[in-house]
Amino acid sequence: MARLLAISDLHVAYPENRQVVEDLPRGGDGDWLLVAGDVGERFTDIEWTLGLLRERFETVVWAPGNHELWTTSDDAVALRGEERYLKLVEMCRGLGVLTPEDPYQVWSGSGGPVTVVPLFLLYDYTFRPAGTTTKEEALAVAYESGVVCRDEFVLHPDPYPSRDAWCDARVTLTEGRLATRDPALPVVFVNHFPLVREPTRVLRYPEFAQWCGTVRTADWHTRYTAAAVVYGHLHIPRTTWYDGVRFEEVSLGYPREWRPRGGPATYREILPGPS
Ligand SMILES: [Fe+2]
Ligand SMILES: [Fe+2]
Repeated sequence: MARLLAISDLHVAYPENRQVVEDLPRGGDGDWLLVAGDVGERFTDIEWTLGLLRERFETVVWAPGNHELWTTSDDAVALRGEERYLKLVEMCRGLGVLTPEDPYQVWSGSGGPVTVVPLFLLYDYTFRPAGTTTKEEALAVAYESGVVCRDEFVLHPDPYPSRDAWCDARVTLTEGRLATRDPALPVVFVNHFPLVREPTRVLRYPEFAQWCGTVRTADWHTRYTAAAVVYGHLHIPRTTWYDGVRFEEVSLGYPREWRPRGGPATYREILPGPS
């Protein structure tokens, strides 16, 4: 029976991770693969990876991570912000990879039918450190501790004035799209960031949480009857449950993170999943 599988945070700029990707198995008949962001930074790396995965699966669904949205000096694609995102979407269309800009598809294999919803929402600094009540205060705590996400320097929000303004626009747009889905079907969300704050409570550096999501999606897993929520970004692969909904952190992560675990992770099964 066909399975719905997921992986994220392949970070293929690391040669070891590139090898891991080359060694990933081919999907079985009818299997789909969900890729929850942070494939890499360089445009050609992202295209190489998604192209390779597309050859191994009938259907590949991608949601962007923060790293895909970086504009770095060693990338031939110098576009910033929304223009870069749309260029990535165009590249995916060329490969036949589904993105948050495509009509939501229904998974009818094992554990289905469910609507598969890739999301691009970003974050808005509302997962704030204790004792802070504004983005400015949250950022001040981060700068003081020295834990500042590189996004602040290379993830440009153009044409939006800020990353949180971009997030606001994306959440509103996505709520409109979700209103048009078939309400009779459960949803599988694919988002780079966790939809609820709880998974960030175990971060080694709690200041980092402000780059990990938005409080505006805190009830989406119940509001839209999620069968499962797939995310990455934290590089803490695990299964947790919130309000009876299964959340799967599906990251590979950096070699220095997966090596001590005894080796790289492979795909995680989302559906049918555990009974
Ligand atoms: Fe990552
Ligand atoms: Fe990330």
